[in-house]
Amino acid sequence: MHTTTDLEKFYYLFPQTVAVIGVGKNLMPAAWHTPISAKPPLYGVLISPKRYTYEILPEHEGFTVNFLLKDQADLIAKLGSTSGRDIDKLSEFRVAIRNAEKIEGVIMSASYGAYECRKYALHEYGDHFLLIGQVLSIHVNREMLLEQNLIDENMVKPVLYFGKDRYLTINPDTLSIHKKD
Ligand SMILES: Cc1cc2nc3c(=O)[nH]c(=O)nc-3n(C[C@H](O)[C@H](O)[C@H](O)COP(=O)(O)O)c2cc1C
Repeated sequence: MHTTTDLEKFYYLFPQTVAVIGVGKNLMPAAWHTPISAKPPLYGVLISPKRYTYEILPEHEGFTVNFLLKDQADLIAKLGSTSGRDIDKLSEFRVAIRNAEKIEGVIMSASYGAYECRKYALHEYGDHFLLIGQVLSIHVNREMLLEQNLIDENMVKPVLYFGKDRYLTINPDTLSIHKKD
């Protein structure tokens, strides 16, 4: 039987995928993120103005979006419960990174895929800002790709967020293919 619930938590109908947003050398997990346009390639992330990430946005021309595997859930929880205002998360959590190529920023070595984005727009919606970036470059772990650039469901165990401190991943045995004839 359905019931009604507190509207304040309307977004609790999980799961969401998690992306880690890199601005300069700071990393912040985001569950609210989405592709916006294919041509030009645009990607959006919702950032609360309370975040240090938001505060330092004006100092940076771009940002990175890092997609991680489930085995990184502990790191994600740490990055999401601390602020770059108080600590240097990269050294505190010994995050392996390499420099982005087209913008000044970092790519997480553990990511199976990542985008480098140039800031394109910033719009306020309620209590969050939609940061839109133009994707300049896509990093992907080739071993995790099938033909047609599809992600291999047997290789990629993406980290999914189920609210509060709960993370899980997919079971590739549930994959079903539905052909349109
Ligand atoms: C799984 C997860 C998803 C999150 N999603 C978002 C999000 O989409 N937008 C946001 O503003 N904060 C989100 N947060 C909260 C920030 O990641 C958190 O406040 C972080 O400590 C901010 O870091 P900063 O102050 O260094 O920017 C999320 C946290 C977690 C753990």
